Amino acid sequence: MPGLFEADDLGMYVVKFRGAGQGLKVLVAEVLVGELARRLDIRVPRLVTIDVRREIARYEADEEVQDLLTASIGSNLGVDFLPGSFGYDGSTPATAAEADAVIWLDAYTANVDRTWSNPNLLVWHGHVWTIDHGAALWFHHMWPTRGADAARFADQPFDASKHVLADLSADLPGTHARLSGQITESLVREIVDLVPEEWLEPAPGFEGPDDVREAYVTHLLMRLDHAPAWLPTNLGGAR
Ligand SMILES: Nc1ncnc2c1ncn2[C@@H]1O[C@H](COP(=O)(O)OP(=O)(O)OP(=O)(O)O)[C@@H](O)[C@H]1O
Ligand SMILES: [Mg+2]
Repeated sequence: MPGLFEADDLGMYVVKFRGAGQGLKVLVAEVLVGELARRLDIRVPRLVTIDVRREIARYEADEEVQDLLTASIGSNLGVDFLPGSFGYDGSTPATAAEADAVIWLDAYTANVDRTWSNPNLLVWHGHVWTIDHGAALWFHHMWPTRGADAARFADQPFDASKHVLADLSADLPGTHARLSGQITESLVREIVDLVPEEWLEPAPGFEGPDDVREAYVTHLLMRLDHAPAWLPTNLGGAR
């Protein structure tokens, strides 16, 4: 359950809580994929960290919400609230270039959460904005049990046939050539460094947060390197 917060900068933010059932890793995925999107000129609301104080939880009347807030004291993810936006329904379609860029990003980061039943796209001021990247980068959920295995993630194919923008795709190979060239090691490191240290959970094989950061860098670079193994080939524009 995300919440709507007014922060002390007077901005309104959709807040994804550190204490929610999905855990901290979904917040990490939101930052990594959202900031990657931004650098590829894909529209994504501004992301911030929201410090939830104990007092906010104490005065919350709803018991369930109070429990969530109490479990979330500390840094949480804030997504700039887009007032007047509405969920993508095709009435203001993405352009072919936007569709290809979003599909490419989702394929690269293994984000299966952008279908017609859950588009995770908003329309705001006549443009399509991407939100909700918490389901991407599934590999980190395996770290506690199976450890880091970048090679497994690197080759995993991506099925884009149910992607909400699949029908608009025009040139995925060309988009791949353009976007993959923009992702350098220094860009990946810059994005991974944006993740707050307290969201980087320990796992077997990691000595500390720096090791966790390094594992994200390795996974993202290796997947890029293994393209086109994961590039969808079942779209109109990809044939
Ligand atoms: N930045 C935003 N501005 C305006 N509305 C937003 C924003 N972010 C999210 N919303 C609204 O809140 C809904 C849920 O957001 P989001 O998909 O990010 O959360 P979620 O917890 O992953 O939800 P779900 O499991 O339903 O996908 C969105 O469908 C949208 O209606
Ligand atoms: Mg969603």
